[in-house]
Amino acid sequence: MRIGFKALALCCGFTAMSAVATEEAEPEAATGFALQKMASGTNTMAATANPYATKAAAKILARGGSAVDAAIAAQMMLTLTEPQSSGIGGGFFMVYWDASKQQLVSLDGRETAPMAAQPDLFMRGDKPMRFADAVVGGHSVGVPGVVAGMYAAHQRYGKLPWSTLFDDAIALAQQGFIVSPRLAALLDREFNPGLNRDGAAADYFAPEDEWLQAGDRRDNPELAATLTAIAEQGPVAFYQGKLAKQIVAAVQQDPDHPGLLTEADLAAYQPKWREPLCQPYRGKQVCGMGPPSSGAVAVGQILSLLEPFAIDKMAVNGDKFIHHYAQASRIAYADRAHYLADPDFVEVPLAQLLNQDYLAKRSAEIPVAKDAGKVSHGEFNLGHGADATAALPSTSHMVMADKEGNLLSLTASIEMGFGSTVMVGGFLLNNELTDFSRHPGKGKQLAANRVEGGKRPRSSMAPTIVLDDNGQPLLALGSPGGSRIINYVSQVTLSLLDWQLPLNQAVALPRVSHRNDYLLLEQGTELEQRKAAFELRGYKVKVAPLNSGVQVIKRTDNGWQGAADPRREGIAIGG
Ligand code: DON
Repeated sequence: MRIGFKALALCCGFTAMSAVATEEAEPEAATGFALQKMASGTNTMAATANPYATKAAAKILARGGSAVDAAIAAQMMLTLTEPQSSGIGGGFFMVYWDASKQQLVSLDGRETAPMAAQPDLFMRGDKPMRFADAVVGGHSVGVPGVVAGMYAAHQRYGKLPWSTLFDDAIALAQQGFIVSPRLAALLDREFNPGLNRDGAAADYFAPEDEWLQAGDRRDNPELAATLTAIAEQGPVAFYQGKLAKQIVAAVQQDPDHPGLLTEADLAAYQPKWREPLCQPYRGKQVCGMGPPSSGAVAVGQILSLLEPFAIDKMAVNGDKFIHHYAQASRIAYADRAHYLADPDFVEVPLAQLLNQDYLAKRSAEIPVAKDAGKVSHGEFNLGHGADATAALPSTSHMVMADKEGNLLSLTASIEMGFGSTVMVGGFLLNNELTDFSRHPGKGKQLAANRVEGGKRPRSSMAPTIVLDDNGQPLLALGSPGGSRIINYVSQVTLSLLDWQLPLNQAVALPRVSHRNDYLLLEQGTELEQRKAAFELRGYKVKVAPLNSGVQVIKRTDNGWQGAADPRREGIAIGG
């Protein structure tokens, strides 16, 4: 049952509307567990967080499309069928192995702050807004990067015509898709406080004032029209003209938190090809997205910090492993918070952060068995101030392999589940600007990740490709999960490289997270029983549902294997 925003505000006050979007909440809640078999394919593989999207991608691959073509078809489908997590109103990062050139590339399709945004965007007086308030409305919307980024990827690596990649999503938007249990559960829980506002999102997700239920058929003619325009005209249909004007109007006229986005901001958006970042680990190269994502740096640091400890000799998720893993995470999250931000605006000391001597020194500081307590960032004297980016921050990870041997790893997001809840043209706009530090810092001590006009907020998204000992692509993986993405991706990478777990076991492995605050063990798994043992080691321990969504592909002698995280609704299909 949905009660209108105004009625609720009168009875209960804004803060009572959602028990979910608090500082302690995760950006998307856990909604179940369904262990999957591993898929295999001689020529191709597609794995996404949603069956409709995987099927659309598999169809493109079967028609001879490239991994990039398949990813575009999947992303357009996700905009319709997994609208809470990602879509054309958001951004993405992609890491891609180009088999013909034997080259790894990465693409930044991250959202960008409007030019008029100032460091105090989320300040009210001398205090930052509550995260739950910052999320909702026009002021948190960054210029979306998905359409321009995907078009740029297609220009370089597409094989099938751009317009054909939209066919299935447009047809399903017209006919209606079946609402999944996860989407229905997140709606029912009023996961994002903004869902309770009157407006386009409420009208779409709660027709006749009732939240959509699992099994309902929901069409989206507005999205069908938007996708048709983008299919026919390309990005210009999104960043200029009628749709751009609608986006700007919805953002600027938001009834609660008007935003600063202008038509000029939209027209100026540019995706950026950036150097991928690779860190050696046990003879392999673990490669991912550099800044403005903190993903590859932090994942690379965690692995390097653990290399001296021979994880392969430790029991799978054993106490010794969890202790060392948690301590390495502490260090990586401390550095991340202080130094990682958009490199086009601040100096990010990448070479120092990934330097083997620096990491060996810090690894040697890891206590044998006890928790070290809160650790500090390394000192590289750049004069940054303290970071106040939310420790938590919707997001979706996909992996694709085509018959030419190209491999793709792509994480896309609209940030919080249901984004800013501002809906235009049949899709949700992101609230990615909340990935900036809400408090800019004081005087000269400014946070590296403060808001600035034209800047991209720091991300934790970690689309990853692992190259084997011969420099050939071996694995592609990634996950949603807010800033815990780094933990999910590094733990699964270790489980594949060190413990050689089969893919479906690796994606199901009980999760452990530590962000230099407390040890979090996954609820409903055997890890729950280990709480007391870690408290004895001095840890502050919490047990909670952990909401990874890892999709993974592995190259084998016979082609490809793939698997999808049982915590979400994804599937993998080989061809
Ligand atoms: O870019 C980031 O790091 C976040 N906006 C990702 C958010 C996320 O993973 C939400 N997911 N469950």
